[in-house]
Amino acid sequence: MLRFARFLFAPLLLIAIAVLVLALTSRPATQPAVLAAFADQPLVIAHRGGKGLWPENSLFAFERARALGVDMLEMDLQLSSDGELVVIHDSTLERTTNGQGAVVAHSVAQLQALDAGYRWSADGGASHPYRDQGIAIPTFAEVLERFPGMPKVIEIKAPDAGMAAQLCTAIVANDQQDRVLVGSFHERSLQSFRQHCPLVATSAGPGSIRLLLALNWLGLGSLLSPSYQVLQIPERHSGVQIASPRLLRTAQARGLNVQLWTINEQPAMRRLLEQGAHGLITDYPDRALQLLGRSTQLGALDQ
Ligand code: G3P
Ligand code: CA
Repeated sequence: MLRFARFLFAPLLLIAIAVLVLALTSRPATQPAVLAAFADQPLVIAHRGGKGLWPENSLFAFERARALGVDMLEMDLQLSSDGELVVIHDSTLERTTNGQGAVVAHSVAQLQALDAGYRWSADGGASHPYRDQGIAIPTFAEVLERFPGMPKVIEIKAPDAGMAAQLCTAIVANDQQDRVLVGSFHERSLQSFRQHCPLVATSAGPGSIRLLLALNWLGLGSLLSPSYQVLQIPERHSGVQIASPRLLRTAQARGLNVQLWTINEQPAMRRLLEQGAHGLITDYPDRALQLLGRSTQLGALDQ
């Protein structure tokens, strides 16, 4: 027994020293400029421009969401065959447009000739009110030109790191460093973006989220020194609860702005805000604005 205790002493001592060093040197995240203007108000973020209300990732959606009064526009980036950043969620065209095949197999001219309002329906496909209304797939350059003052959540959908440098160049050229927050499910793309644009705010990639979950589970959340400023997470993923009240407390204590996706029902919105969520990424920003007692002006949009 004594020999066993001696055997464990050295590794346990090393672990204790490592934890102590990490605890003494860990630094919380600082608030990024893109969020500084909002003070403490909960953020309403239009997921893909508010895909429950109008065709996703379109200039039409972004215009309407801005007019509605949302705080941030969320959008997704893919690359065209001729190397242009285009705003579309899927890597293929079938779900949202009248086109077929891979986005990356089409030039930007071919993509912009498609009808991006073709598939949208509010009644399960019985009607398609946005067909033939001139709604196109926007380029990222068009979005930057049309919405320079609007805070934007930009998601890199490309799995390789190639898009990151191009995105950083576009952000800097348009003086958008303090207007954007960049995220990705692809860790390599995100790390590449941070190398190119270290001063632009980013959200946690999947590896960082897993580390945070593990530290939180072990009660060691205070050791975290995030390389990101924002935590964008679902409430549950693959049947596992991600956004527990305890995780939200840990994230807050580490200086992170916590934004939940994709929250479409008001009871869930209310519950998550009560638990300390800072932002709601939603297909129905009108519902979030109404819940928060903010004017929605949906009727005025049709005049
Ligand atoms: O921020 C992540 C959120 O956008 C959810 O992902 O699939 O809708 O792009 P997705
Ligand atoms: Ca997205």
